[in-house]
Amino acid sequence: MWGAATAAHQIEGNNTNSDWWAWENSIKRHNQLIAKGKHPKDFCSDIACDSYNRYDEDFALAQSLSHNATRLSIEWARIEPKEGKFSEQEFEHYEKVLQSAKFHGLQTFVTLQHFTLPLWFAAKGGFTRKENVVNFVKFAEAAVKRLDHLTDFWITINEPEGYASGGYMTGVWPPGKKSFLLALKVVKNLAVAHQEIKDKLKTVTGKPIGIAYDIIDYQPTNFFSGIIEKLFYDRINKLVFYRTVDSCDFIGVNYYFHHHVGLFGKRTRSESHHKLTDVGWSIHPEGLENVVLKMKKYNKPIYITENGIADVKDTKREQFIKDHLRFLHRAISNGVDVKGYLYWSLLDNFEWEKGFWPRFGLIEIDREDLLRRRIRSSSLAYAEICKKNYLDYEI
Ligand code: BGC
Repeated sequence: MWGAATAAHQIEGNNTNSDWWAWENSIKRHNQLIAKGKHPKDFCSDIACDSYNRYDEDFALAQSLSHNATRLSIEWARIEPKEGKFSEQEFEHYEKVLQSAKFHGLQTFVTLQHFTLPLWFAAKGGFTRKENVVNFVKFAEAAVKRLDHLTDFWITINEPEGYASGGYMTGVWPPGKKSFLLALKVVKNLAVAHQEIKDKLKTVTGKPIGIAYDIIDYQPTNFFSGIIEKLFYDRINKLVFYRTVDSCDFIGVNYYFHHHVGLFGKRTRSESHHKLTDVGWSIHPEGLENVVLKMKKYNKPIYITENGIADVKDTKREQFIKDHLRFLHRAISNGVDVKGYLYWSLLDNFEWEKGFWPRFGLIEIDREDLLRRRIRSSSLAYAEICKKNYLDYEI
């Protein structure tokens, strides 16, 4: 399966009932940005890519690029704007979105939670409180009952550890907390939520249910850092993974990072020989092979649910995709059951705390010209691979 991934808040626009919208538009956030000499408007999702209205155009473009799959998320904050009150209008909207994806020949991966929360749920403590898990489970039940006929794969949660870290450890995402204990509570509760959804829904849906995990390729640089890597990085960064992987029908892998673990466990993001993306992340395609090889023992189908590059000039994207696919193929040759690859992202979109400047899209969004969609040349190279299901390579 070949395609690209997106997330509701990053592309739809006007997600006004969500915690992210409130955060982006809060006076506190604006003052922080102004103090750093930045323009708050550049950090508001606003109309994003207007995909809430332009989804059919987006799927038609994906189809023209020979994609046969798409990953998207449905927005809990729209579907349940008040606790217990589900909006039939929004369900109908997402029904139309998924029908359009199907019409354009795309299999659908539907994510239930991709970083954003309804305001009312955030106000009662979000996933920091175990008693709140039931709200998410109820939403998941309602969504699956309503949209299952148009969904091929359910993803309960996107990047549980990344979400907990952004909102509760580094505090760069709402609610802006910096507490290891809160982050721990969040990962635990997300694991419980996934498990409950899986138990409740396995009789309701015959579709595979999984998680899109954020998986980092940690490479220890010596024997001692190898021990630290095993005891600390692998455990701490995969708390949800270890608690939930057995109950997943497939493993979703989001791969972006390769980190070196040095003396005394010091972690560095890049080495001098690595090329960097526009956001300063090191490009290390071998890491994708490493991380999926480590998953072989779980004996589950694997989908790369995200992998991509911020590259405004589009000079590195084609090579980036080809290199990652080469290493992925090597893992497949070594017996790893990788069934699909979803590039992040279909469109240039709202890149969370960074605003709009990082350009991850196969398709450029011209923000100066009515959000016009323009196909980047790298996406044509990727389209060739998708079409032929083939890539010439040598490692
Ligand atoms: C997230 C996306 C994000 C991407 C690039 C992933 O961690 O799931 O929402 O845009 O990384 O930063």
